[in-house]
Amino acid sequence: MLQSIEFMQNVKSLKDVNIENKRLLIRVDFNVPMDSDFNISDDARIREAIPTINYCIDNGAEHIILVSHLGRPKGKDYKYSLKHIIKRLERLLDKSVVFIERIENLPSIISTLDSKSIILLENIRYYEGEEKNDEGLSRQLADICDIFVNDAFGTSHRKHSSTYGIARFAKEKVAGLLLKKEIDSFSKALASPIKPVLLIVGGSKVSSKLALLNNILDVVDKIIIGGAMSNTFLKAIGYDMQKSLVEDDLLDEAIRILNHAKEKNVKIYLPVDVVSTDDVKEHNHIKITPVQDVPKNYMVVDAGPASIKLFAEVVRDSNTIIWNGPIGIYEIGQFSRGTFNLAHHIADTYAFSLVGGGDTADAVDKAGEIDNMSFVSTGGGASLELLEGKILPAFEVLDKK
Ligand code: 3PG
Repeated sequence: MLQSIEFMQNVKSLKDVNIENKRLLIRVDFNVPMDSDFNISDDARIREAIPTINYCIDNGAEHIILVSHLGRPKGKDYKYSLKHIIKRLERLLDKSVVFIERIENLPSIISTLDSKSIILLENIRYYEGEEKNDEGLSRQLADICDIFVNDAFGTSHRKHSSTYGIARFAKEKVAGLLLKKEIDSFSKALASPIKPVLLIVGGSKVSSKLALLNNILDVVDKIIIGGAMSNTFLKAIGYDMQKSLVEDDLLDEAIRILNHAKEKNVKIYLPVDVVSTDDVKEHNHIKITPVQDVPKNYMVVDAGPASIKLFAEVVRDSNTIIWNGPIGIYEIGQFSRGTFNLAHHIADTYAFSLVGGGDTADAVDKAGEIDNMSFVSTGGGASLELLEGKILPAFEVLDKK
């Protein structure tokens, strides 16, 4: 874990190179959620890219070409066009942006533009080669710039042409300010944390967090396990979880993790009471019981009040808190209290709190506590892989200091 963080911290950043009069291609992650009318419901990823773009403008870059994906389009689906984000980007930058639909048109259009223009290229996943890390597309992207800047932390776990392949052909390849900020924050939590360190892990599946749980035991002092994944642990130690989501094939693995944690002197906290329902929908019957009394045919959907009280104590006694995964079905009002109250308790501490992206960031936002966390990552899948101890591919290919 420490070695991988150290490796990723050692990449060259935008501030280590001279960008004056250079043409920059910045890979950003503008993959933002939108409603059916294309209104952006959370523009955090666009906002987080602004400091890098402004830095490049202020330091005399010639043309700035922004490249991003949006969603997972199959072909050129209008739903995933980056046209939908232009207005927000222009408002946040307070500058106009030139939109270019095809890379092939870039060289001829660029020659007609003012040298300080900001260009946004249409969704790079409209090109079949992108996700295949196609050599031709990678070369084409590299050829249009003097310096490749990767600032797309959310996509840094992907080996795609615009995040990975391009680096093979780019003259200089460096990390943007967001990429640096992300890795420095993870380093603060994992490489040089103020102890005690607490990991809160939730979400639905133990299987998706196995690598994380196995890797993190050398770093943390305690772990709170919540969400549907705690059902598997509770069943493994003998509770009847009734109709709850349980990964029966992982019961032995859950015991192995508990034993391994014990050997490493890492304390594990599981819910002591739970909220259950007989149907996962709003305004249904809920029952709050100790874990040993989940009602017949009910399923667990949230941690109960006694669990939150226990978790709050653990949170209060921690100086570094890493949170990955909600501890209940927070999208449904009645089942959101565990996750939201936990967010309030973390917000009340002076600990360094690092929130993984994706669902966890969304839950913290809905709890109204996003500004009270020390750092909220813009990467869901990327932050999970980082916590698993992996070197993220995007960092692998950047120039080293
Ligand atoms: C994300 O939303 O996690 C990133 O933008 C990566 O998107 P992907 O999972 O479609 O590669």
